[in-house]
Amino acid sequence: MSEFVRVAARDALPPGSAHAFPVGRYEVALFNIDGKFYALENSCPHQGGPIADGWIEGRTVTCPWHAWCFDLQTGKMTLGDFAWIPRFEVRVEGDGIYIATEPLAS
Ligand code: FES
Repeated sequence: MSEFVRVAARDALPPGSAHAFPVGRYEVALFNIDGKFYALENSCPHQGGPIADGWIEGRTVTCPWHAWCFDLQTGKMTLGDFAWIPRFEVRVEGDGIYIATEPLAS
């Protein structure tokens, strides 16, 4: 069972932005999309690009290295069914944002 780690204050990540945080043994990219938070491992399955630095459009992030695109809710590649990024549960409690220390089962 995962534990949760506080990574930021609730208002530290404005809508439309992302930031990477160390969470346990992972680096996790946290995205704020219209006030809803999504968390994926900050490593693109292609060659490890930092998706927290990618382009965000709607609920899709585009890897900054070679432009593979991923759905932030599912972690799945949007243009094929052969790659995905592990997802992490996010909880907002009080004024803090918390991320699970282990990924969700895919
Ligand atoms: S490392 Fe992400 S598309 Fe290549």
